[in-house]
Amino acid sequence: MQADYQSTGTGSSQNSEQLLYWLRDRLGQQGPRFGCGIAQCGACTVLLDGTPSRSCVQQMHTVPDQSEIRTLDGLADGGEPHPLQRAFVALQAAQCGFCVNGMVMGSLGWLEARIAAGNRAVPTKEEVEDFLSGASADNTRNYLCRCGTHTRIVGAIRSAAKEMVR
Ligand code: FES
Ligand code: FES
Repeated sequence: MQADYQSTGTGSSQNSEQLLYWLRDRLGQQGPRFGCGIAQCGACTVLLDGTPSRSCVQQMHTVPDQSEIRTLDGLADGGEPHPLQRAFVALQAAQCGFCVNGMVMGSLGWLEARIAAGNRAVPTKEEVEDFLSGASADNTRNYLCRCGTHTRIVGAIRSAAKEMVR
């Protein structure tokens, strides 16, 4: 899996710039999106040392130096899309697509954490719904789709999980 960036020199207490703007404006990353700006929708999600982070509210001085930052832009392994990317395309899980970054990066962090903890079961529809709604104990953050394509998104996450646990 490709690691996108390692933060360097960002631990300055002076730097109150949000991680989202650092990624988009300084590094040209187009994956993380500005949705709500108040940590409520998930559109800006990136993985910070493997943990989903709402980059719209994560100030740079809170990002430890040498942190591994993974974004949707770097998710494909070489030219090969990640199973989550393939599943979202195959199941046409996006309408406008604005939420997809958060859905993919959030579920990536969630699924990888489950697998790392030894849980190689494909999550049930209910478990994915709990994940997306922030109701599950291992993810207290919700992910919103304003177009209402949650049914297909749930299917895509489960489909990708089948590949990821193999
Ligand atoms: S834009 Fe960050 S959570 Fe909505
Ligand atoms: S597809 Fe439009 S917000 Fe989810």
